[in-house]
Amino acid sequence: MINFKQNTIALRILTVFLVSFTINRKNLCSNHPFFTPIKSPSVHFATAHSSLAEMIFDGHLSFENTEHTAKDFGGRYHFMPSAVLYPKSVSDISSVVKNIFQMGETTELTVGARGHGHSLEGQAQAHRGVVINMESLREPEMSFHTGIMPYVDVSAGELWINILHKSLKHGLAPKSWTDYLHLTVGGTLSNAGISGQAFEHGPQIDNVYQLQVVTGTGEVVICSEEQHSDLFHAVLGGLGQFGIITRARIALEPAPKKVKWIRALYSDFTIFSKDQERLIASDNSFNYIEGFVIINRTGLLDNWRSSFSSKDPIQANQFTSEGRVLFCLEVAKYFNLEESDHIDKDIDNLLSDLNYIQSTLFLSEVSYVDFLDRVHVSELKLQEKGLWEVPHPWLNLLIPRSSVHLFAQEVFGNILSDTSNGPVLIYPVNKSRWKNGTSMVTPAENVFYLIAFLSSAIPSSTGKDGLEHILTQHQRILNFCGRSNLGIKQYLPHYRTQEEWKAHFGTFWEVFSKRKSIYDPLAILAPGQRIFQKRRHLDNEDLKLNSSVDKGLDGNPSKDII
Ligand SMILES: Cc1cc2nc3c(=O)[nH]c(=O)nc-3n(C[C@H](O)[C@H](O)[C@H](O)COP(=O)(O)OP(=O)(O)OC[C@H]3O[C@@H](n4cnc5c(N)ncnc54)[C@H](O)[C@@H]3O)c2cc1C
Ligand SMILES: *[C@@H]1O[C@H](CO)[C@@H](O)[C@H](O)[C@H]1NC(C)=O
Ligand SMILES: *[C@@H]1O[C@H](CO)[C@@H](O)[C@H](O)[C@H]1NC(C)=O
Ligand SMILES: *[C@@H]1O[C@H](CO)[C@@H](O)[C@H](O)[C@H]1NC(C)=O
Repeated sequence: MINFKQNTIALRILTVFLVSFTINRKNLCSNHPFFTPIKSPSVHFATAHSSLAEMIFDGHLSFENTEHTAKDFGGRYHFMPSAVLYPKSVSDISSVVKNIFQMGETTELTVGARGHGHSLEGQAQAHRGVVINMESLREPEMSFHTGIMPYVDVSAGELWINILHKSLKHGLAPKSWTDYLHLTVGGTLSNAGISGQAFEHGPQIDNVYQLQVVTGTGEVVICSEEQHSDLFHAVLGGLGQFGIITRARIALEPAPKKVKWIRALYSDFTIFSKDQERLIASDNSFNYIEGFVIINRTGLLDNWRSSFSSKDPIQANQFTSEGRVLFCLEVAKYFNLEESDHIDKDIDNLLSDLNYIQSTLFLSEVSYVDFLDRVHVSELKLQEKGLWEVPHPWLNLLIPRSSVHLFAQEVFGNILSDTSNGPVLIYPVNKSRWKNGTSMVTPAENVFYLIAFLSSAIPSSTGKDGLEHILTQHQRILNFCGRSNLGIKQYLPHYRTQEEWKAHFGTFWEVFSKRKSIYDPLAILAPGQRIFQKRRHLDNEDLKLNSSVDKGLDGNPSKDII
């Protein structure tokens, strides 16, 4: 899709350009094929870069070897930055943002915080801007506070897996997780962080007591429910638009030692979803409630999220799916060794109310760490086969309860009836237990389902496992949702135009854009989300350039980059 090599060449040229400021921009532009198509190179471009190059950091700023920041887990978007900052302090981040802010509208420079780069559509990239490698900000020690409301203060560049390991040494752990833990705190808090614990604890953004944030003006602000609460709410689920999170105070709870991990199959969606909804509504339920769809598979176990082995099932009855669509309930109950004698009885009680296909109950017992880090096991296997670093066209939808049956009928019964190219997760949550006021957008109803199509594409395939086919199917799903007015919202949203973003935010757009004008008035931050465009003053020359250009270097029509 995107010509990466060309970008690399352009980068080299750019580097040369930066080093030798004596080169006249006009000559460069007219002589060089790579420069003319770039959207509006500014007269002040070199000045801006030399100003950055002169700055002194605790960490360092690099104009070279930046290619890795033009990649992400999605594998589909490649926007080359101008430079990468490897910060060693909050003031490194603050001063780079402040410097760019003070250049005002004379520069097109933007700043993209990059967590672990596990975005799907270039959200952590900064086309010709500065990428901040947040992982450089990690510290060897985390500061734990034990007591009635235990918490840990961590760098926002920290990976959740490291927080887990460190917390366990204190007998503690965060309450709410993502399915995969090799993601940064700043990255998931900018979205929501939803997994099987969210029905009980809310998403990760509900389990944070305090943040340290660098706003789009370079100001460092500590915020919480009590202090600068508007910024606190704005930043949580804020898609990086209002500030760069540099530290976070994460709520902890006593950590269990072990987990009973259970799966059971359903062939009827109505029965399946009724059971899921019953489970999320009841007290003393499981600690984790999810589910997934099995489309035209013969085995249960050929699944990258699975850590069940065939010797684990309690009732290993021969069960064939015969190409049917099946729904797998996945739940987990945490316990400690002193509870071993009654845990099985507790679980039997919980299961006795459910209506799964009796012979399809699978049970496994694992340590708490192995349960939480389950996807990493699959990652290693896929990496071995070269199937991890492939394009990941993912589609994550939040579907109101009142629409979910219609959705399931059309999507699993028709659009995706013959194949899926990766796990399809499906589970309900109840927003009435969630905190109010964050930037995360959800459907209008309290109870809604997260339905996640976590597809992998086989590079260069033009068949059903190829990128084009998967994208077409996802578009069909979205079209169906729109046509039937299902009231869905995208999670990890991705849009190309501001009109679509406005529709996504709905009535919340007014608040969202007002907050943008307060906390990041020049729209410097997180340009990869493509919600707002960097404010800049265009001189006549630039305008001429703009109008003659319709393709950017990245191959995306620039009119889409609003
Ligand atoms: C295998 C896998 C499994 C996943 N499972 C789940 C899941 O179960 N639940 C779930 O909710 N999500 C899940 N995700 C999605 C994941 O939460 C997002 O993709 C998240 O953005 C990845 O975090 P990251 O650290 O790589 O962030 P990046 O991709 O680096 O950044 C994401 C966005 O946040 C911004 N950002 C990054 N750091 C900061 C910061 N410190 N301050 C402000 N903005 C910042 C970036 O600019 C970018 O816009 C999964 C992703 C993958 C790849
Ligand atoms: C959602 O929460 C509300 C308020 O606690 C409750 O009345 C309702 O029954 C819950 N619904 C489900 C499906 O959990
Ligand atoms: C299931 O997949 C196989 C290929 O793996 C295909 O031949 C068959 O038609 C599919 N069945 C249905 C019901 O779509
Ligand atoms: C969120 O707000 C709604 C009404 O706006 C209220 O009914 C609900 O109790 C609030 N939830 C929390 C957790 O504060």
